[in-house]
Amino acid sequence: MNEEQKQQYKEKYAQAKQKGVKFWPDIIYKDLLVVFALFLISVMLATFLGVAQEPKADPSDATYIPRPEWYFLFLFKFLAIYGQIPVLGKIEWIAAAVVPGIAVGALFLLPFMDRSPYRHFSKRGMALAFMTLLVVTIVALTMIADIPTDQLSLLQFLAGLALPGIFLIAVIAIPFIFKQNPNRILAWATGIGSALILGLTVAIMVLATPAAATEEVALATTISEKVILGEELYGLQCVECHGAEGEGGEVIGVEGMEGAVLEAINARDLMYTFTDDTLYNIIEYGQPESAPAMPPFGRAYGGALSPGEMEAIVTFMRYTWDDRAELPAEAAAASAMPALRPDEVPSYDVHIQPIVKRYCISCHREGKTNNNYWMTSYDEIINTGDNAPNLVAGDMLCNTIRMLNREEIEAGGPMPPTKALKPELLDIFMRWINAGMPETAEDAAAASGAGQPYPAPLAPTPYP
Ligand code: HEC
Ligand code: HEC
Repeated sequence: MNEEQKQQYKEKYAQAKQKGVKFWPDIIYKDLLVVFALFLISVMLATFLGVAQEPKADPSDATYIPRPEWYFLFLFKFLAIYGQIPVLGKIEWIAAAVVPGIAVGALFLLPFMDRSPYRHFSKRGMALAFMTLLVVTIVALTMIADIPTDQLSLLQFLAGLALPGIFLIAVIAIPFIFKQNPNRILAWATGIGSALILGLTVAIMVLATPAAATEEVALATTISEKVILGEELYGLQCVECHGAEGEGGEVIGVEGMEGAVLEAINARDLMYTFTDDTLYNIIEYGQPESAPAMPPFGRAYGGALSPGEMEAIVTFMRYTWDDRAELPAEAAAASAMPALRPDEVPSYDVHIQPIVKRYCISCHREGKTNNNYWMTSYDEIINTGDNAPNLVAGDMLCNTIRMLNREEIEAGGPMPPTKALKPELLDIFMRWINAGMPETAEDAAAASGAGQPYPAPLAPTPYP
């Protein structure tokens, strides 16, 4: 600004002051009126509408993952996307401190940097373009904030980081390159940049399956259905470490867990202090802090379980181990281990499969080593295993019977490793083998030797 301009400005200002309203008391009075009106509106809103409360804070919940308020989500997302960049992404403080620091510092220094005497928007192309792009980026980042960053990560990187970066730098550079009349070019750059960023954002939102929506349609709806599904999944995913009854104890035969001793998770203490949300979070995120760590099971964290499945496991745990929750009769009937009439011959379908699902397959299925013994089907249970056959019709000295009776043999130690099967379940196993291992209920009904007492070669073996 040169001297002449300065002079003009001062004159204009003096004139305006002559005509204008007094700051004190006139303007202050108006301000006070507006502030008071706003205050009244807030009081009314708080009294008559209120805000939905979140669940009470749970101090025993070590797995709580704090999330920022919505107006900080863009920063959170920015950090997450930045973190995906190889090498640079590891230097977290650049994104966490330097970038926000520069932004806040620039705002602070703005009055010193922007010395232009002009106020009219046509003279402020660069500032307008820059701010528009920044706001568009913030909106875009907020919109995709709850989409897991590892989904469509390239698109997210483009929309949330690369394009905004390129266009913001371009907008600063344009006035230096096109000195004559940069506004048209600035407007084009802003328009194209914003359209690209927002277009990609919408594409991401349409294409991504957000964390909570991976849900299969109505996996299980009633409590009974959830308990039954949850029991099955618990048998598959959790038994190997926590035991069939959630009893804990020493972990045997699980890679990376050798010698770990786990607390019981079926205890009243735990059931009374852990809410369903806490249990859900533990399953979803695992217990990464404990040593040894429990792995995460949520799909978004590389695990095998969908939200509906995790919810089912929580429901199963709640209704099975919390003595305050009463299991609906239907679920109790369906999830009870099969009973056997004295003269009935057990079959694989009706009797053995439920026992195996609960007590064995967590360790004996595809993906586990454990002597390559898989127990997920009739065929597998009979034919797989390094020491196959482990089950031989009518052979009361076959590997499985001896191991179930807690013997240590060449094929391995007692099975399940930590806790003996209940006597009535062991009895079912022995009778089934003795009767020739029928697969279906019809086969069992037709089996000869029905209900005959089996020889009990090992039953009284004292437990070690
Ligand atoms: C690979 C072994 C492993 C598997 C599989 C596993 N967990 Fe865990 N779990 C752990 C470990 C280790 C801890 C740490 C607790 C401890 O030190 O006692 C733990 C802790 C827990 C706790 C908290 C216990 C407490 O006192 O804080 C719960 C609840 C739990 N697991 C539930 C489950 C459920 C449900 C599943 C199946 C989806 C499962 N776990 C599968 C190893 C496992
Ligand atoms: C906590 C994990 C775990 C559970 C649960 C478990 N097993 Fe095992 N099983 C193993 C391991 C580990 C081996 C390898 C031998 C060893 O180390 O003792 C094995 C081996 C076996 C073998 C020998 C296979 C072969 O061909 O060598 C049989 C049979 C067997 N288990 C039966 C069962 C039955 C039946 C159940 C359920 C009632 C069961 N297991 C539950 C871990 C488990």
